[in-house]
Amino acid sequence: MTFSSASIAGTVGDTATGPTEEGPTAVAYPNIALVKYWGKRDEELFLPVTGSLSMTLDIFPTTTSVRVIDGRRDVVEFNGVAATGAALARIETFLDLVRAKAGRSDRARVVTSNAGPTGAGLASSASGFAALATAAAAAYELDLDPRALSRLARRGSGSASRSIFGGFVVWHAGEGEGVAGDESSYAEPIGGDELDPALVVAVVNQGAKAVSSRVAMRETTATSPFYRPWAESSVLDLAEMRKAVARRDLPAIGEIAERNALGMHATMLTARPGIRYLSPHSIAILDAVLALRADGIMAYATIDAGPNVKVLCTRGDAPRVNATLVGLGDFVTTRTAHIGPGASLTTSGATPTTLGAQLAAGGDR
Ligand code: PMV
Repeated sequence: MTFSSASIAGTVGDTATGPTEEGPTAVAYPNIALVKYWGKRDEELFLPVTGSLSMTLDIFPTTTSVRVIDGRRDVVEFNGVAATGAALARIETFLDLVRAKAGRSDRARVVTSNAGPTGAGLASSASGFAALATAAAAAYELDLDPRALSRLARRGSGSASRSIFGGFVVWHAGEGEGVAGDESSYAEPIGGDELDPALVVAVVNQGAKAVSSRVAMRETTATSPFYRPWAESSVLDLAEMRKAVARRDLPAIGEIAERNALGMHATMLTARPGIRYLSPHSIAILDAVLALRADGIMAYATIDAGPNVKVLCTRGDAPRVNATLVGLGDFVTTRTAHIGPGASLTTSGATPTTLGAQLAAGGDR
């Protein structure tokens, strides 16, 4: 099955036109939070207000190579186009951090490509910074264990800390501020992969969002009267979610995930001024998920900083969930994801053999 929707073909690649540059190359996958990260207690160190829990996916990977060069500026190529402005600055800032850790000053050439939509609430920054952290650490010869790599990826995008690992992953909020906070805020896998759920990703808009999650998060934490109550309940959601994963209880996982996500959107809607990522199409999908549940199908929705909806269900129910969502109309295009792997380094700059097979599997519509 492949994407057949004309609107999505061409921009959402089914093949990773992976970097061919020499230099360490890394592949990382997006993750979708089932208990959300929403709000920082330290903007510079990317320390979250609350811990979060996610599932790493097996679709929409980012492939990134980093080669140290003899030049005065970093050069970044993103999906075949030279990066400029804020996108370039964000990567340069991240590379500066890597260089500071390595005690080096030489610049780098970064070649990166996303197989999925970018900036559309489909966790491209998670896969992007997990891949960049992995490749850059290798290029600058930083010897980091997975926990240290997770902490490094966190500094590019908080959710990237979780994409270092595959399967179900918890990102600890950490304790304290400054160095203590930095050292204690990392992600780690928590097992439960044999649950083997499906996540039907319903793309209703693959365009980049108008308000970045970074800005939305800042404004929400600063102005929404609902933020504190949500953060407090999210701490409880995380504790309950960990137990639900430990006992492999998919309905409980789904229920907690859905309420946690809707609560997060409530904080955005009540920011001043309000921030709304949900579109009428997102609501139509939420309604369809409710109808599926009324029909006895275990299907639960989660939504990030964008209008696209991800529906958690069993692997066996995924075709039925998919057919229901596709049946809503032409506005929705779906991909079904399962549990995916953590970030990995490929030696030669080629994409790993398993990746080609996964991408060849294509989409559901
Ligand atoms: O890491 P960021 O800045 O892309 O923020 C991610 C925020 C959410 O996707 C909405 C929630 C999450 O935990 O991934």
